[in-house]
Amino acid sequence: MSENKISLKAKKLEFGVDEAIKSLRTNLLYSGNLHAIAVTSTTAGEGKSTIAFELARSFADLGKRTVLIDCDLRKSMIANRYGVSERLPGLSELLSGQAQKIIFETNIDNLYMVLSGKNVPNPQALLTGERFNSFVDALKKSCDYIIFDTPPLGGMADALIVGKQTDGTLIVIRNDYVKKAMVRNVKRQIQQSGGKILGVVLNRVKKNQKDYYYKKNYGYYDK
Ligand SMILES: Nc1ncnc2c1ncn2[C@@H]1O[C@H](COP(=O)(O)OP(=O)(O)O)[C@@H](O)[C@H]1O
Ligand SMILES: [Mg+2]
Repeated sequence: MSENKISLKAKKLEFGVDEAIKSLRTNLLYSGNLHAIAVTSTTAGEGKSTIAFELARSFADLGKRTVLIDCDLRKSMIANRYGVSERLPGLSELLSGQAQKIIFETNIDNLYMVLSGKNVPNPQALLTGERFNSFVDALKKSCDYIIFDTPPLGGMADALIVGKQTDGTLIVIRNDYVKKAMVRNVKRQIQQSGGKILGVVLNRVKKNQKDYYYKKNYGYYDK
């Protein structure tokens, strides 16, 4: 799929987090035909990128050919966070016609990455263009799972545009962090755009809340 390989410095997960991600993976595996999954949230800092990465890694661990696409073309931190130091072309270069080879094999078996590329101030025109659509269509034929990390939905519609290329969207909600009305608004926006909400990941639930949330949600919590 790609000629280049990048080396990701991924943290080892705590046992509880690992189990929660596996439970999320199992839910998605057995929820029917879900192969292209967007991850979004209301605001920044809720854990979208973390969960998108861990979910992608978790599918890859099962031997599923998985691509993580960093669709945060405004303020991506994925390359930086996972120690990708080379300045590699990514989605923004592909969508603006400046690069074609943007899928990189990683040091994690079965996990491929598409980095965001150079940040752009208004990515919506790029994301609505035909290039994105055909890129994702081709990936759907060659991969088992595609995970799309997106910017937050409160304030910009990028995640709705990305969501259209997917089988559904996961909403990450950081515990005790955002107002319910804002989350409801995000839910409404996704539904009105014709998108499917796959579920909610309640992130950063404290340990003493764990048992409750673990049963009721795809919990992903602090130690
Ligand atoms: N469950 C968690 N426990 C502890 N830290 C977390 C957890 N989820 C995310 N973080 C941290 O919170 C910060 C924001 O997470 P990130 O995934 O970048 O959010 P987003 O993509 O929604 O902006 C990062 O420093 C990340 O490492
Ligand atoms: Mg992010």
